[in-house]
Amino acid sequence: MKKEQISFSYEVLNAIELLPEADQELLKKAREVTQLAYAPYSRFFVGAAAILQNGKIITGTNQENASSPVGLCAERVLLSAAASLYAGIPIQTIAISYFNKKNGKSEHPAAPCGICRQTLLEYELRQQQPIRLVLAGMEGKVFVINDVKSLLPLYFSGADMR
Ligand code: THU
Repeated sequence: MKKEQISFSYEVLNAIELLPEADQELLKKAREVTQLAYAPYSRFFVGAAAILQNGKIITGTNQENASSPVGLCAERVLLSAAASLYAGIPIQTIAISYFNKKNGKSEHPAAPCGICRQTLLEYELRQQQPIRLVLAGMEGKVFVINDVKSLLPLYFSGADMR
């Protein structure tokens, strides 16, 4: 029997000020747009902001529905907006933040859910270049992850169907 191991490393920064300027701006934007989320059911307001290779910044927020599975996460709203408005332009970095209005907390980074990881992966493979992720609450530590693949070990993709 052979054992395999998959590991990945990511950066943990103690404060937003330790990020490069462009990432700081993107994270601030993600934090700002949490206010535009439509989250009357969970009251968990998520904001995402992406910078594209052409320098444009796109944002997305979670959009809930009375029928809960119909709701969309901020990440997938963002990706659809980017692909619709700037088809074919690669995404460089996505910053994701949130505010939990139920308990007022937002002090640790929250990582994308499973469906969003799979969706992000499709975009990363499609554009053939990594999408960086910058994750943080409204305060506290910041995680920087260099690509989406790292978040989905042994991922399933179109290549598996060829
Ligand atoms: N949510 C996101 O927008 N992104 C994630 O990665 C995790 C969860 C949203 C979905 C739902 O509207 C609310 O947060 C609570 O799950």
